[in-house]
Amino acid sequence: MIVRTVNPDDIYKIMELEYENFDNPYPPNLINFLYESHRDTFLVVEKDEVVIGFAVGIIQKKEGHILAIAIREDYKKRGVGTFLMKRLLKVYEKKGVNRLKLEVRVSNVAALAMYKNLGFKITNKLKNYYENGEDGFLLRKDII
Ligand SMILES: CC(C)(COP(=O)(O)OP(=O)(O)OC[C@H]1O[C@@H](n2cnc3c(N)ncnc32)[C@H](O)[C@@H]1OP(=O)(O)O)[C@@H](O)C(=O)NCCC(=O)NCCS
Repeated sequence: MIVRTVNPDDIYKIMELEYENFDNPYPPNLINFLYESHRDTFLVVEKDEVVIGFAVGIIQKKEGHILAIAIREDYKKRGVGTFLMKRLLKVYEKKGVNRLKLEVRVSNVAALAMYKNLGFKITNKLKNYYENGEDGFLLRKDII
């Protein structure tokens, strides 16, 4: 498995992963914007030269905000998400960003398990945060 920053050829695959994994996928123009403006914190993971997942975040006021991570269905629960997230955390660390946040649906047991293992802590509940009225959790992690 290799992790690398995104390149233009990956965009189609990332859109596919978005549509497979999220009820409200990011539109292509948002993915393009993230590619144009936040490339350093937009990573893909490849196996045998095929993209099997991506993770993307931004930096706002010196704080890292992780926006999305998705792993291809047949590679889930094999440590790939954790592997990719650890690499993204390293990128933030190298950039001197030592505070991270993200939001997750309260029902997303897989993501919550992964983030907790990575040291994220729930700090707030976000009422009606998602389009369908579902609550979210705000999670934070300080990189030492
Ligand atoms: C969340 C996601 C990225 C996790 O990726 P993954 O590669 O399957 O995760 P890992 O294999 O690294 O697992 C990390 C931990 O989460 C746990 N986990 C993963 N999937 C789980 C599930 N469905 N139910 C319960 N726990 C789960 C694993 O057991 C592991 O914990 P452990 O080390 O204590 O066993 C993946 O499930 C996914 O793409 N989900 C859809 C998109 C999404 O919800 N993204 C997050 C919101 S932005």
